Order: sequence, then C-alpha cells, then structure tokens
Amino acid sequence: KDKVIILAIESSCDETAAAVVVNGREVLSNVISSQIDVHEKFGGVVPEVASRKHIEAISAVVQEALDKAGIKLEDVDAIGVTYGPGLVGALLVGLQYAKGLAYSLNVPLIGVNHIEGHICANFIEHKDLQPPFVCLVVSGGHTFIVHMKDYGEFEVISKTRDDAAGEAFDKVARAIGLGYPGGPKIDKISKEGDEDAIKFPRAKMDDKNSLDFSFSGVKSAVLNYLNKMNMKNEEINKADVAASFQKAVVGVLVDNAIKACQRNKVDKIAIAGGVAANSSLRETMQRECKKHNIKVLFPPMILCTDNAAMIGSAAYYEYQAGRESAIDINAVPNLKL
Ligand code: KG4
Ligand code: ZN
Repeated sequence: KDKVIILAIESSCDETAAAVVVNGREVLSNVISSQIDVHEKFGGVVPEVASRKHIEAISAVVQEALDKAGIKLEDVDAIGVTYGPGLVGALLVGLQYAKGLAYSLNVPLIGVNHIEGHICANFIEHKDLQPPFVCLVVSGGHTFIVHMKDYGEFEVISKTRDDAAGEAFDKVARAIGLGYPGGPKIDKISKEGDEDAIKFPRAKMDDKNSLDFSFSGVKSAVLNYLNKMNMKNEEINKADVAASFQKAVVGVLVDNAIKACQRNKVDKIAIAGGVAANSSLRETMQRECKKHNIKVLFPPMILCTDNAAMIGSAAYYEYQAGRESAIDINAVPNLKL
C-alpha cells in the first residue's frame, strides 16, 4: 500500500492524545488534551486522577483528531497505541479504546513503545532522516542514549542509574518552589541567573568508560545547598540555583551524547523526549556538535513532549516490518526499549 493512514493514541501519563499520520511522516492532525492544571495542585501526576481524566477525554480527542485530519474511521488502515512504559491505569484507557476501534474496524492493532515514539518524533520533522543515528532520549521518566541502527532496531548505549533527567528538573523545581512541571520553569528562570554562580557536581561513574548517567547526586547537592542557605538565613537566588543546576545536567547529557557518536562512528544525533524542549540543552548541543562535526536534530517543541503523532510514526515502521499486536495485548508499565 502506498498510503498508510494510522490513527494513533497516547495516554501513558497526563496527556490524552490522538493523531492521524500518513506513512509515518506526514501529520494530518495532532490533538493533545493536557491534564497539567488538574495535577498542578498536587505537585505531580496523581495516577488515579490521570486514569479518570483520560476516560473523560478520550472519545472527544479521537473524534477531534479524525475531524481535523478530514478523514473517517473507515479510512484508517491501522491503529497505533502506546502500551508502555507508563502509568498502568492511564495506559489501559488508551489501549482498551484502541482495541475496541481496531476490532470493530477489522484493522491491525499496533502496540507502540512510548520511548520508541519519542525517537520517531524526529522522522516527522526531518523528512530525510534515516537510520543509523544516535538518539538522546530525555524525558520525565527516562534517560537513554540509543543507537538506532535501523527502523525498529535499537541498541541501548547508556541509561540513567537513578533519576531521569526530567525527574531531576521536576524535583529541583519543587525544592526551590517553582511548582510543577518543573522543567519549563527551570528553563525560564535560568535565563535570568548565572550558571556559574554555584558549582554543583556532575555525576562520575566508577567505570570511566561508562556513558551512564546519575542525577540523584546533583539533585542532593542542590537540596543540601538550599538547606545550608536556609540555616544561615541567607537569601537564595532561585535563578542562580536553577541555572547552575541546569548547567550540570546539560553538560553531562551533551558530553555523553557526543562520546556515544564518536564511539559508534555516527555523525548524526537526534534528541527526543520532554527535556529536548530545554533551551540550554538545544544551544549547548548545537554548539558542541558543531565543534565535532556532528549533525544535531531536534523535533519541534510540540513533538518533544508527549503526543500521539510520534506514536503514529513509530506504529508505521512497526506495521511496515509486519509487527502487529494481538487483541489481548496488555499494558506494560515498565516496558523496556
Ligand atoms: O516526554 P515527556 O513529556 O513525558 C514523559 O514521557 O516523561 O517529558 C516530561 C518531562 C518533565 O519532567 C518536564 O519537566 C520535562 O520533560 N521538560 C523540560 C522542559 N520541558 C519539559 N525539562 C527541561 N526544560 C524544559 N524546557
Ligand atoms: Zn514521554
């Protein structure tokens, strides 16, 4: 078939999303209903609340995606849906909805790994991008450097040993009183701060060859600094703390990503996940990659954070490889890449 239309659904965390994607690259619609304001008052995502909100939103979100794309359900060739990793109750809402649609339309159901979706966001923006390339995946739940050797074929080069990068942003933001979600808030306030004001440690691995990450150390260093300042009754410059923390995190992300390219003799790096929206990461990555003759690719902001278009792209490549899911596929909260 030369034109494969995929309806994709994503509900792994706090966004209910649906999209219509043609041939994995062309987005006809990309609808996202965010629950951020509901979870904001709790300072983080409350799983049970997220599931209920997905149930309320999903029918309208899917309908809107179809309407905006100008297509009818009968035109859909396959249903793509995130089945993990994520919150189990949240995942199940999208998954069960997708199963119902695929069954009634008698079209293939394609379960998609959410992380693979983040990576595939790059195919939507960069029409000529082909594997192999290295991908730095930085989201609220995950931090990976992946060697994408071919469509659907990944080798994990390194990962975080504790907190994800986005999680560290969120925790530090909460500690300095910036609220949820922390990443964008730290990004914004850092612009007014001095990133060299405070020296926060960068994680060092015992094994010097490892490109793994650890962010709990820098997070604790920030907390210790805040405690110390509070005890001394000294005023805390939030912008300086945010900027200095951000510099430590961005520095290690960029260094390791470049090393991963060099070791695997790859001259292209794509960035993926919510933290890819970070302006300092974008600037530093561009600057450093230029020095090393590596081409760096970022998806646009709207495709960095959770969305269903990226799931539609990943589903297309699974579909092309003949990988369909059985109708009894279950949600897998800790699904690996
Ligand atoms: O990929 P995503 O939308 O959800 C997950 O799959 O986890 O990523 C959300 C994460 C949150 O931790 C959020 O704070 C972070 O991405 N984030 C940012 C920025 N925008 C979102 N982190 C740093 N700077 C940003 N501008
Ligand atoms: Zn995500």
